[in-house]
This record gives sequence, C-alpha cells and structure tokens, in this order.
Amino acid sequence: MRRLGGLPIGVFDSGVGGLTVLRALRREMPSERLLYFGDTARVPYGTKSKETVTRYALEVAAFLEGRGVKHLVVACNSATALALPALRRAARVPVTGVIEPAVRAARRAARDGVVGVIGTEATVASGAYQEAWTKSGGRGRVVSAACPLFVPLVEEGWWDTEVTRAVARVYLRPLLKARPRALILGCTHYPLLKPVLSRCAGPKVALIDSGSETAAEVRLELESRGLLRRAGRGTEGFFVTDGPERFKRLAHRFLGHAADPRVVRFEG
Ligand code: DGL
Repeated sequence: MRRLGGLPIGVFDSGVGGLTVLRALRREMPSERLLYFGDTARVPYGTKSKETVTRYALEVAAFLEGRGVKHLVVACNSATALALPALRRAARVPVTGVIEPAVRAARRAARDGVVGVIGTEATVASGAYQEAWTKSGGRGRVVSAACPLFVPLVEEGWWDTEVTRAVARVYLRPLLKARPRALILGCTHYPLLKPVLSRCAGPKVALIDSGSETAAEVRLELESRGLLRRAGRGTEGFFVTDGPERFKRLAHRFLGHAADPRVVRFEG
C-alpha cells in the first residue's frame, strides 16, 4: 500500500489549459508526485467529435498508466464530457473527471435554482453537465453557452482586456437572463478569466471552478484509500506531443513557474 501511495497522479489535458488543474492539485496536495500530459499536437479537443476525442484520450491514458500512476485525473472538460465512460472502462486505476465534482459544488451553491455552464462547443453539445446534474438529483434548470473565443484569448494572455470583457458580455448575456445562482467554469482555461467573469455575472452568481473542486475530491479519495502522500516535496513531470517551446512559454504564465516537458510522439 505504501508503495502504491508513492506513485504519481497522472493528469491529462488537450494542451496547456489543464495546468490550472495541476496548480489546484498542487495546492491541495503539496507532497504528491504529479505527471502532466498535454496533447499539444492534437489540441483543441473542444471542436472535435466524440469518436476522435475518445481515441486520443484512451491513447494518452494508456501512456500515463504505462508510466505507473495510482490515479488518473482528466483535467480537460471536453475529454471528460466525451470520453469519461470509455476511460473508466479501459483504465486499471480510478479516473476522476472534472464534471462531477463541479456539479456537486454547483448543487451546494445553487440548491434548486438555475445553474449556468460555459465550456467549449464539444462540452456544451455533449449535454454531459445536464446529464451529471440530473444523475446527482439536481432539480433546477441547467443553461449553457459555448464560449469558443475564450481559449485563444486566455492563451494570448488577454485575461482582463477590453476585448475579453466585450466577448464575455456577448457570451453571457443570454445565459444570465435565466438568472443562474451558480456558473460552472466548464473549461480548463476559464479560471484565469475569473475577474472578468465575476464582474460580468455580478455578485449574486457563485463561480464554480471545476479544477479546484476536482482537486479537493481527488485528495479525499486518495486519503480514503490510504494513498495520499503526506510527506516530502512534491515533484512534477511534463509530457507533450508537439514541440515544447509554446508549452514552456504558456506554462510559465499558467503555473507561475517553469515546466520543461519531454516530447512524446504517437503513431498516426
Ligand atoms: N482543455 C479544453 C477543455 O477544458 C479546452 C481546450 C480544447 O478545446 O482542447 O475543454
């Protein structure tokens, strides 16, 4: 058991955005070993079909499992929305996605009121949040909006600019008409837009950061299985599927410290 606890947690995303989830995991679990995989050659996942994203996600998960991990975290909302059941069937270790923890937090915040969800086109079209909401016994309505321009704006570093504020107003206006009590930030990049989004949504709407909620649940799960690493300094390893330069540049911005990834090439 002690040896299993010493294994890393595998975290995967379509690219750099999942580093917001990595940061949340690090905050929750300072001693854990974290292995991050960004599928930078095939990003974005948020515009692709379920079949394609599932194929990519299974490939990445198998790679991480092959490195020896004790738990897999699907940091990418689009991969969670489209591929979580397939990942859970295929993996030998427990798999946590970002949708269920966010829905549980939204239920606590919104009770039976309306909940808003924003995410990529694929996440919103999948209906995965609505499904998780209904499964969890949520009664209020779920209203959602795809916000595809947010990802490039965040990667450009335009977290709180006039353009970003204008785009946020256009995307959120119809959703806010439904008067949500909580708004789920259903994409890896959106926590970096929190100041803009909270000003746009107003003080009555609780913003739910799916990465932080997921990190808290992963910690509880590892604790309950006796697998939480409690002592020692945490370590981080990074893998990408395309040239590392852009990842390195953005990682510094997303994580606040340097990341030096190894490049992995998948066939086909
Ligand atoms: N990581 C994706 C997500 O959270 C955003 C980027 C992409 O479309 O791949 O949905």
